Amino acid sequence: MLTKIIAHRGSKGVRPENTLVSFEKAIDEGADGIETDVHMSKDGHLIIMHDETVDRTTDGTGRIFDKTLAELKQLDAGSYFGYEYLGTRIPTLNEVVQFLIKKNFTGLFNLELKTDKIQYPGIEEKVSNYMSQQEVPFQIVYSSFHPQSLVKMHALNPNIEFASLFKVQTKFARKFYRSRLVKDWHPDIRWVRAHRFFLPHVQLRPWTVNSTDDMRYCFKRRFDGIITDYPGRASIIRRSIQG
Ligand code: G3P
Ligand code: MG
Repeated sequence: MLTKIIAHRGSKGVRPENTLVSFEKAIDEGADGIETDVHMSKDGHLIIMHDETVDRTTDGTGRIFDKTLAELKQLDAGSYFGYEYLGTRIPTLNEVVQFLIKKNFTGLFNLELKTDKIQYPGIEEKVSNYMSQQEVPFQIVYSSFHPQSLVKMHALNPNIEFASLFKVQTKFARKFYRSRLVKDWHPDIRWVRAHRFFLPHVQLRPWTVNSTDDMRYCFKRRFDGIITDYPGRASIIRRSIQG
């Protein structure tokens, strides 16, 4: 099995992150998976963005949770990256899922619930309800830096697949590992390298694997996947190591 190349917020290195153009680029570059982040708007819509505020990646300011979907849709989410992306909009989870279906995406869809800084009330129920109503041709893996969100997701649907996401190993990651409830680990690549990590029963997919050295390290060890801003470059390096 080849190590999966998972596009971090889409092809974030070459397109405005977490937008349809970054997901399209990831598919065009042959990514095996797509990672993205979800928040909630003031009026309860599931919004795709990395930060809790719109400041860094749009022409607006303020928290996602303080804005309605209509307000968020007025913002430009492309020009921060390059003038040619002016007019790019913040997508909703529904728009991303429908886009991936339309594109016949059959890889791994890693949906990260951004609940570590703001615990959006009811976001787990909304995500779980929405996703369970969709017939998707791709594998869904949930993750979160806020493990309670995953516990809630699991209670809502015991069949979901979820990953332990962490910068440094937490007691939750150890607990999840012992329980065998979680077989997917998404640790920081720096933690992996510092610990010369190997554990049986774990599908390891570190982030954010961007340097050639880190890519070679993961491909040589045949980790299950890497999460990278540069899927195009990663596939060239993977070919040179794994064929
Ligand atoms: O899910 C892997 C990675 O996306 C976690 O970090 O901050 O980029 O969401 P962040
Ligand atoms: Mg993320």
